[in-house]
Amino acid sequence: MPETSYAVLGIFDTPNALMAAIPKARAAKLGAVEAYTPYPIHGIDEALGLRKSPLGGMVLVMGVIGALTALGFQYWISAVDYPIITGGKPIGSWEAFIPIMFEVTVLFATFTAGLGMLFLLNKLPFFGHPVLASKAITGITRDRYVLALEAEDEGFDSTAAAAALRAAGAVEVEVLPAPDRSPFLTSAFILRTLGGIFLACLVAGVAIYSLTKWFPLLKPMVYMQDQPRLNAQKPSAFFKDGHGMQKPVPGTVARGHLPTAVGSQDASANLVNPLPRTPDVFAVGKKVFTTRCEVCHGAVGNGSGSLTSAYGAKAANLQSQQFRDYPDGKIYWAIVNGKNAMPSHAPYLSERERWAVVHYVRALQRAQNAKDEDLKVVAR
Ligand code: HEC
Repeated sequence: MPETSYAVLGIFDTPNALMAAIPKARAAKLGAVEAYTPYPIHGIDEALGLRKSPLGGMVLVMGVIGALTALGFQYWISAVDYPIITGGKPIGSWEAFIPIMFEVTVLFATFTAGLGMLFLLNKLPFFGHPVLASKAITGITRDRYVLALEAEDEGFDSTAAAAALRAAGAVEVEVLPAPDRSPFLTSAFILRTLGGIFLACLVAGVAIYSLTKWFPLLKPMVYMQDQPRLNAQKPSAFFKDGHGMQKPVPGTVARGHLPTAVGSQDASANLVNPLPRTPDVFAVGKKVFTTRCEVCHGAVGNGSGSLTSAYGAKAANLQSQQFRDYPDGKIYWAIVNGKNAMPSHAPYLSERERWAVVHYVRALQRAQNAKDEDLKVVAR
């Protein structure tokens, strides 16, 4: 009669009784002989005729393959594919490869050990060993020694196995029914699992959202808003003068803003305005004058700007005879270097803008002191 039992367990009181029973149980040839004991018993592997586990050999082979792979990769990269001399060492210096070789060896070996043990030798996935469901299991984990005759095929005879175990000295026998091995990956199981995961995500999401909203201990992503910064024109205790905005460091030369080559204003008298008097140049000069100079010097340059008396100084009257006689170079020098209460405009004006505004000042002077010949209509 075909049996549906997993195994028959024979229970022994002492390890010696178990060891003595093993040869008899194996001789009976009724099924696979396996022993379950609360602790390892010397010589039991040999008595059971267990083969040495192949895992050690697998790990060794894969470890060596890992080491050779790492060696090959590194050598190929640094000596064949892209040979570069590093630190003056010869191409393909193997000493530098050792750390990576070590790591890849460990990687291959541990993966072989872990996966090989779980899936190849322990035959996972498999939840719970059938012996764990036996009555004898409490004894096995304490002070009983169990010899099992396990079914190897359909012809397993549990009655004969029980009799053989009793004959071998077992004080008690237990027939272990075959475990339920119906597939667990049913569609209902998958649906339940996915539904559970979805529900858990939903609950967690809503909970985190509401908690952070109601108890905003740490507002998310405000770091850039809250960083310390200084707004334009605001005071700052960082600099000695208390201003947040600072002038360029002395000697700073902005790209395209060459300093004048001349030292003194008198020496600059010989500079010649390099720009032609064209409508383009006058347009630039007018724009610079209205945005940069007019506020102090007035729209026609006569020194009556729109500043209040709070500006302590009196801007020069550029219409006066003195400045009409001024050479271009000295006006240019004043723009670049500033003069007393007039700040230097060098940082703000390009070379072209400086000379263009000189032309424009000249035009203003001529417009305010027009001579008869200036009124002549020029035929074009
Ligand atoms: C903040 C006000 C202010 C601005 C802006 C200003 N100036 Fe002046 N400027 C002055 C004052 C004040 C003086 C008189 C300086 C002195 O002689 O004490 C002066 C003097 C001058 C002089 C005579 C320099 C000399 O050798 O005596 C010239 C030329 C001049 N400015 C041109 C310009 C031009 C061109 C601009 C525009 C690029 C300009 N200024 C912008 C206030 C200003």
